Amino acid sequence: MTPDNKIIVTGGAGYIGSHTVVELFNAGYVPVIVDDFSNADHRVLDRLRAILGQPVTCHEGDCKDAAFLSRVFTKESGITGVIHFAAFKAVGESVQEPLKYYHNNLMSLVVLLKAMMAGGVSHLVFSSSCTVYGQPDHLPVTEETLKKPAFSPYGRTKQICEEILEDTVKSHAPLKVMALRYFNPIGAHPSSLIGELPLGVPNNLVPFITQTAAGIREKLTVFGDDYDTLDGTCVRDYIHVVDLGTAHVKALQNLEKISKKTYYDVVNIGTGKGNSVMEVIQVFEKVTNVRVNYVIGKRREGDIEKIYANADKSRRVLNWQTQLSLEDALRDAWHWQKRLGEASSRVAS
Ligand code: UFG
Repeated sequence: MTPDNKIIVTGGAGYIGSHTVVELFNAGYVPVIVDDFSNADHRVLDRLRAILGQPVTCHEGDCKDAAFLSRVFTKESGITGVIHFAAFKAVGESVQEPLKYYHNNLMSLVVLLKAMMAGGVSHLVFSSSCTVYGQPDHLPVTEETLKKPAFSPYGRTKQICEEILEDTVKSHAPLKVMALRYFNPIGAHPSSLIGELPLGVPNNLVPFITQTAAGIREKLTVFGDDYDTLDGTCVRDYIHVVDLGTAHVKALQNLEKISKKTYYDVVNIGTGKGNSVMEVIQVFEKVTNVRVNYVIGKRREGDIEKIYANADKSRRVLNWQTQLSLEDALRDAWHWQKRLGEASSRVAS
């Protein structure tokens, strides 16, 4: 491992960020976390140290703070690339507080790009989302699928960020960008040392399932069973977060191979397979042997009916495809939930 192999990981203490830090390290990179801990726990750093067998450098601060970022780029010599995760991501909150989302998600990218230019760092992997497609007319979605209006300000920030990146590359700035459009990341590291840590009541399906199975929540509400899908519940493309971490490594390696000085591309990161909410519940019950108490409720506002990836481009361009199954992801999510339960009962006792 050489010290000039450093990758700045903004939001590296968060859910996807922390799993990517592990995969970067496994691939021989030196991950350097930049995080303001607004949606991450400091204990993640200890957990990462336990997984990696050595500490990870972390700079605590806000990506919108130009002076702070400039200090990071000056202090950390040998940075060869950046993975930008740091962003707000709660769809519902973004509808309530759109300016919070526009301010944070757009500003942090702009400030980061300026810091990269000033620091002579040209490789960027950007954390985008399949939310940029809105509800597509045809499935599975390819990268050429027309982007429909976003369903939330959060989704719109991802669309605008992609445009900011594209415009910057069009200006012939020395910048090589790979925007990864993630589908639905779930699961946890097999060590059960890191995973998703929702603050308060989870918005997302899998943490709600695991908390219900653990008895923390009385019941899961399935948001609608009258959609035009096989069993009437919404369909998503669920991807194991460890697979998602390795996709970032492949994206960086791909940028390193590109000889052009300026480059922009987008790639879907999904399994290529859609699963309904009911299927996720059934698979969870099968792999864990634990029953999930659920009721069918009303549709959730803003939900799209079904979306899943065409994953051909990721295989072709990144030489990457998922290795882990829905079963693996749900089993790992459950192990992580049990670990969290043990930790909180230890704290309580
Ligand atoms: N769901 C329930 N009950 C719950 C929670 C979710 O039935 O308590 C359903 C939803 O209605 C949806 C599915 O489970 O059909 C998945 O919902 P999530 O909230 O887990 O995920 P979303 O697909 O809504 O959103 C995710 C990410 C967003 C991203 C979006 C892109 O959280 O950041 O995918 O489609 F923008």
